[in-house]
Amino acid sequence: MTVAKWPVAELHVHIEGTLETELLVALARRNDVALPSYDPDVLRELYRFTDLQSFLDIYYANLAVLRTEADFYDLGMAYLTRASAAGVRRAEIFFDPQTHLANGIQLDVVFGGLTRSLVDARETLGISADLILCFLRHLGGQAALETLEAAIPFLDQFIGVGLDSAEVGFPPSLFTEAFAKAEALGLHRVAHAGEEGGPDYVYEALDLLGVERVDHGIRAVEDPRLVELLRERQIPLTVCPLSNVCLRATPTLGAHPLPAMLAAGLLVTISSDDPAYFGGYVDDNLDALQNEFGLDHAQMATLARNSFRAAFLPEAEKRRHIEAVQEHLEGLLRLTSGA
Ligand code: HPA
Ligand code: ZN
Repeated sequence: MTVAKWPVAELHVHIEGTLETELLVALARRNDVALPSYDPDVLRELYRFTDLQSFLDIYYANLAVLRTEADFYDLGMAYLTRASAAGVRRAEIFFDPQTHLANGIQLDVVFGGLTRSLVDARETLGISADLILCFLRHLGGQAALETLEAAIPFLDQFIGVGLDSAEVGFPPSLFTEAFAKAEALGLHRVAHAGEEGGPDYVYEALDLLGVERVDHGIRAVEDPRLVELLRERQIPLTVCPLSNVCLRATPTLGAHPLPAMLAAGLLVTISSDDPAYFGGYVDDNLDALQNEFGLDHAQMATLARNSFRAAFLPEAEKRRHIEAVQEHLEGLLRLTSGA
C-alpha cells in the first residue's frame, strides 16, 4: 500500500536546481548546446561535490541550455509536476535572473516561461506557487540593486527577493540597499545565511536585511543567543538536509542539527534546495529525516504544519492547509492503531 505524502509547502527550492539530467540533455539538443555527455546517467555521475562552490560551478554551467520561454516553461512544469506528487501544495520558488542575463537571456523570456508554468500548474495540478527573485551574492550589492530595478516592470510576477550563491566572503551587509529597495516595493525578503557562513551572517540577514525567513540557517545552532532570538521571534528556517549532506555542510545526515533545532523550539521547515543535484525532492528529504532520526507522526506533522505557518500566504489559506496536515496526521494515527 502506498501511503499518501504529507501535505507541505516547499519554501526553499531553486528552479534552476530542479533541472534533471534528462531535461538538461533534451534542452541541450533542442538548443544545440554542448554538454560533457548526452547520457543523463553519466552526467549525474559527475555530481560529486565537496562544498557549495564545487556544486555552483556545475549548476551555473548547466544553465547555458536554457534559452527560450519554452525552456523555462518546461523547467517550471517539470518541477511543479514532481513537487505535486511529493505532496507540495504550495511552492515559493527561487530563480536567479542574473545567471540568465549573463547568458544573454532577457528578463521577459525568463518571467514569461516561469509564470506561464505556475499558472498552468495551478489549473491542472491545483498547486499554488509564486516566484522569489534571488540576487547572486558573488556579483555584489550594486548588481543586485540594478537587477531589482530591471525587474520592476515584472513586479506582479514575483512576491519577494532572496540572496544565494557563494556565501562566505559575501556577507548580507553588502546587500542592504537592494533589500531596502525591495521592502519599499512591498516585496517579501529572505536570504541564505548560516549554510557555510557562521552565525554572524544570520544576525546580519536579520538585522541589516530585515529578512522574514532564513534559508538554511543551520549554523545558528553554534550560538545559543541566536537560537534564543530565532525561537522567540519564531523566524522560520528553511532547512534542506540532503543538500547539507551533499555539500558537506554537515558530515553525515546523522550529524545534522535538525533534532537539536526542533528541540530548541525553532520554526524549522524542510525543503529540497536543488533536488536534481542532491538526490531528492521534499518527500525524499522528509523520508530521510524520518528514517535517520526515527521522527514520529507528531514530529512529522510539526514539520508539515511549520511549512505552511512560514509560507507567504493569507492566514485563511494557511489555516486550510494546516487543517489538511491535521487530517493527514489523524489518518496515519488511525492506520497505526489499526482502527
Ligand atoms: N546555496 C547557495 N546558493 C545556491 C544554492 C545553495 O544551496 N542553490 C542554488 N544556489
Ligand atoms: Zn538554496
